[in-house]
Amino acid sequence: MNKKAIEKDYNNKIKLINKLNQFYYNKSKPIVQDFEYDELKKEIFSLEKKYDFLKSKDSPSQIVGHKPSRNFKKDMHRIPMLSLSNAFTEDDLINFEKKILNFLSKDSNFKLFYSAEPKIDGISASLTYKHGKFYKGLSRGDGKEGEDITANLSTIKDIPKIILDEDFPEEIDIRGEVFIQNSDFEDLKEKFANPRNAASGSLRQKKAEDTKKIPLKFIAYTFGYEKGLKINNQYDFLDKLKVWGFKINPLNKLISGTKNLIQNYSIIEKQRSNLDFDIDGIVYKVNDFALQQRLGNVANAPRWAIAHKFSSNKATSLILDIEIQIGRTGALTPVAKIKPINIGGVLVSNATLHNEDEINRKDIRIGDFVTVERAGDVIPHILSVDLKRRPKSSSKFIFPLKCPSCGSKTIKEFNKITKKIDAVRRCSSEGYYCDKISIEKLKHFVSKEAFNIDGFGKKIVEGFWKLKLIKFPQDIFKLDYNKIEKLEGWGRLSVENLKYSINQKRNISLERFIFALGIRHIGLENAKLLSKHFISLRNFQNLTKKNNYNDLLNIDGIGETQVSSIKSFFANKTNVKVLSELGKVLKIKNATLSQSDGILKNKSFLVTGKLNGISRAEVKSLIEENSGTTVSSVSNRLDYLIIGEKPTKRKVESAKELKIKIIKQEEFLQMLNKAS
Ligand code: IVH
Repeated sequence: MNKKAIEKDYNNKIKLINKLNQFYYNKSKPIVQDFEYDELKKEIFSLEKKYDFLKSKDSPSQIVGHKPSRNFKKDMHRIPMLSLSNAFTEDDLINFEKKILNFLSKDSNFKLFYSAEPKIDGISASLTYKHGKFYKGLSRGDGKEGEDITANLSTIKDIPKIILDEDFPEEIDIRGEVFIQNSDFEDLKEKFANPRNAASGSLRQKKAEDTKKIPLKFIAYTFGYEKGLKINNQYDFLDKLKVWGFKINPLNKLISGTKNLIQNYSIIEKQRSNLDFDIDGIVYKVNDFALQQRLGNVANAPRWAIAHKFSSNKATSLILDIEIQIGRTGALTPVAKIKPINIGGVLVSNATLHNEDEINRKDIRIGDFVTVERAGDVIPHILSVDLKRRPKSSSKFIFPLKCPSCGSKTIKEFNKITKKIDAVRRCSSEGYYCDKISIEKLKHFVSKEAFNIDGFGKKIVEGFWKLKLIKFPQDIFKLDYNKIEKLEGWGRLSVENLKYSINQKRNISLERFIFALGIRHIGLENAKLLSKHFISLRNFQNLTKKNNYNDLLNIDGIGETQVSSIKSFFANKTNVKVLSELGKVLKIKNATLSQSDGILKNKSFLVTGKLNGISRAEVKSLIEENSGTTVSSVSNRLDYLIIGEKPTKRKVESAKELKIKIIKQEEFLQMLNKAS
């Protein structure tokens, strides 16, 4: 951007923030959420920092708050209501203390005490008391001049009207925060966007009777002008406020050392969601008034205090595009490409939109301004759309009815179990027909839990795919290493390493192998169960010949969903071919049953009927723990048939015919010495 464009962008931002101020301060009707406002302010500050030619008298860096509205009489604060500088990181905090010590010319051993006060996110007010009587109340206004809102403030129960304590100064401006508790906000949700706006709006009602209806609270934390105050530090002052009948924040603490401040910060940040009032950080104030006095102010903030802000995990950004990603199982996942934005220290440019239903439910469109949330390590997602900022020309996002990769029809399946149509739309192609699905299948094949081929990551899969070196999993074991050696970024040594890692994985367990195939609904656990059931690759492959899929239902943990998925896997000729090709290049180890010498060694069991107080899964694991096996049908391979309530007649009869021992639950448990 050239200088002119930068200036234009900057001036637009100043114009916008002043418009937002108008709505916020004068009309009590904020049109954006607080964090969006903060974001804009931050952008302006960072532009000013970056380009020193940018200046405006209307910039938030030059004014505190906003000019008071015309609805109320104005009055000057005898001592200005200052603002606080912010600390976002631990380094900011360490710097804050360093600067103070430098300023006071103390060495780093000097023990500074701070009053650490959770910063309530409300509206500040200054209450003038004369001879123990509440005399006048002002809003903050622009910090120098506020609005006379005495009548409205008088309706707040937490504000003492008369203070009789003999220590109470002859004259003092008590300052604090007016706010609404979250529980009280529940009833005001319809009218206001958040508790802060509700407090601000209620405080600015033209008629005090209207303010009275709202359960406003007041917490005191500092003072402005004073005459006759006999206290010399902040923490004692807070204590005195309590004696005088004010409410103070119950989480205030006296702390020394930045390490302890940080510890307190994380404890409070964890409690934050359980509090009945919103806090957006912690204010640290040098405790000693004499030191505060020496430190004084810089611009419009004191040198002796700072607000340690909690990291915001939400931000507003613009959707530039909606991309469709295709997964290994053909699922189409929409992803919003957003204008990059810093959320809690991380630059976010993608947000998941989950699936087609989610887009429709929230009516998310390209060109929308949206609120994006990033919480922990999860992929950022969209919370809401700002419909007021939607361009007139915008149109609904149409989810593709054809796969963007292979052009196959996209479908929504009917889920037999939930009896609902899936929220996810899928590519209906036969797996390897679709390039995107193939690539994802290959990535899964080499992944950690599957073949775990050292040095063969997602990037290499994509690179080799582009060069047509791989298309099917078996190609990995037939790579042309001479060709790879000549590629950019490869050399003799790296190719040797790759070859070694691949060859090492030619020996693989059946369970990992089954998992690596990427059959839908067959995760690690199910692959383990299947491998125990089939024992060898041959048995697994024979499934197609024998067509005995329903036998799989006897495996505990395998249900209809998995069986139908295995069935469709084998119905696909390419899959069958991949399986046989892999069989040729790999050595798949048979599954071994536990070799231990438990009391049920060499004994096989089958359960029929309902058991009492014990699940089938538990019986199965008891058998396996004791070296026994379970089988899925009555045959001469079976040693014991365990019968519960209402056993299957046919099973009991064939067991009798084959002279198989039939035992009850109790007898089985006795075998294990676990009789109840
Ligand atoms: S002290 C000079 N203490 O934070 C000291 N402020 O950005 C300035 N706030 O306008 C105020 N809790 O609305 C102070 N314990 C606390 C506070 C607090 C919340 C707000 C207040 C002020 C803003 C400063």
